[in-house]
Amino acid sequence: MRKTAQKLIVATLCASVLVSAPAVAAVADTYQKTCATCHDSGALNAPKKGDTAIWERLKSQKGMDALVQSTKKGMPQMPAMGLCGSCSDQDFKDLINYMAN
Ligand code: HEC
Repeated sequence: MRKTAQKLIVATLCASVLVSAPAVAAVADTYQKTCATCHDSGALNAPKKGDTAIWERLKSQKGMDALVQSTKKGMPQMPAMGLCGSCSDQDFKDLINYMAN
């Protein structure tokens, strides 16, 4: 009986990893091809990926919607769409949350 229960738990865990992994991988892939150019190194004073303090401040002061808008319009040192011409608002949100972690 216990073995069956364990197998069930393992199967459930595997299933949830399989469901979420492709989405996370896609965000990471897009990030590497676009935003990483500046946000990995902090080039041109871009807020760095993983600098949680900066990203938390931006998110609470400006709000996620404003951050998505400034990414789409561009900033003084950031090209409009952050080099991701095909990204949707949701993609930008995912990318911003990815950089904030
Ligand atoms: C060419 C370099 C470059 C690329 C590529 C780039 N950024 Fe930026 N980003 C910057 C810089 C520099 C800033 C700081 C603001 C400024 O000085 O223009 C910034 C700021 C931001 C901000 C803060 C905006 C605000 O309102 O304060 C967000 C959000 C952001 N970038 C998201 C992204 C996303 C998402 C991508 C990828 C799709 C991306 N950036 C790609 C350079 C870049």
